[in-house]
Amino acid sequence: MSSWTPAQLRHVAAFLGLRRIDAPTVYESFGEDFLAAPAPGFLNLGLWPTPSGDLEGAPAAARRLVATLAEELPRGGTILDVANGLGAQDLVVDALLSPRRLVAVNLTAAQLVAGRQRLEAAGAVAVCGDATRLPVASDAVDGVLSVEAAFHFPSRRAFLAECARVLRPGGVLAFSDIAVERVPKDPRSLIAGATNTRFWGIDPRTVASTRAIDRLVREAGFTRVRVERVGHRTIDPFCDFLDARLAAADAATLPPGQRFAGRRIIGQWRHLRRRGALEYLLVRAELPEP
Ligand SMILES: C[S@@+](CC[C@H](N)C(=O)[O-])C[C@H]1O[C@@H](n2cnc3c(N)ncnc32)[C@H](O)[C@@H]1O
Repeated sequence: MSSWTPAQLRHVAAFLGLRRIDAPTVYESFGEDFLAAPAPGFLNLGLWPTPSGDLEGAPAAARRLVATLAEELPRGGTILDVANGLGAQDLVVDALLSPRRLVAVNLTAAQLVAGRQRLEAAGAVAVCGDATRLPVASDAVDGVLSVEAAFHFPSRRAFLAECARVLRPGGVLAFSDIAVERVPKDPRSLIAGATNTRFWGIDPRTVASTRAIDRLVREAGFTRVRVERVGHRTIDPFCDFLDARLAAADAATLPPGQRFAGRRIIGQWRHLRRRGALEYLLVRAELPEP
């Protein structure tokens, strides 16, 4: 990746306010060779054993995050993977759960196309659709997985209502999410918040704390709700990993603007973590039996 692609330029134009920014604009611009991808086909921060990260540990961390969530779901059933990215996580789901049926939903059609071989290998049916209007029948699913995407959805409440609708009674939901615990008022935090919501195509009205997310899950009708804060095993080590990536030789071929943007974003995340603003959540919940 030695120059800007048309999709990256569209993302930059949207970021600069020339047009509305949405999740597909963001994710079309991140191909297989995305600098921040911890391993081919994964776009998550990873779940690391310690609060520090490096280049070598990234692929295992990416798989560990998916596996930790997927292990909560029933084996041999129908699994819905909402916002599946480039499909690498569906291979993990297939290997761990041997699902009878695996359906991967993603709003970014280009990612479903790019991940087609992985989806085929995982035996997954690919569907282009929105997490808040799932193209799936009611009571049809045994487990719903969503890795690191709920903060993108136009409404968590609508996403959770859809999960409750498509899951059968006793079905399990496992997802990871990014919470904003408080909004610090210092200028650096305000700039970091505004930059990140715009860059990642996040509607600032959907920003929510751990408590608010926990409440939304319960209000959607779920029971046995477990919410775990793991920012020290996700965001913090991922920042170290991305630092190392940017310092590595292959980053020298990157356009300077991309290196600058990468360093700025890491600096902003570290600042927001120090201010107690950013948190990463693992959430597990069940639909009650009648
Ligand atoms: C950070 S990426 C995570 C991708 C994948 N789960 C992974 O961990 O590699 C966020 C994903 O959410 C998807 N997405 C964003 N908004 C969505 C929506 N409303 N409905 C379905 N997918 C959405 C994006 O297309 C992208 O694949």
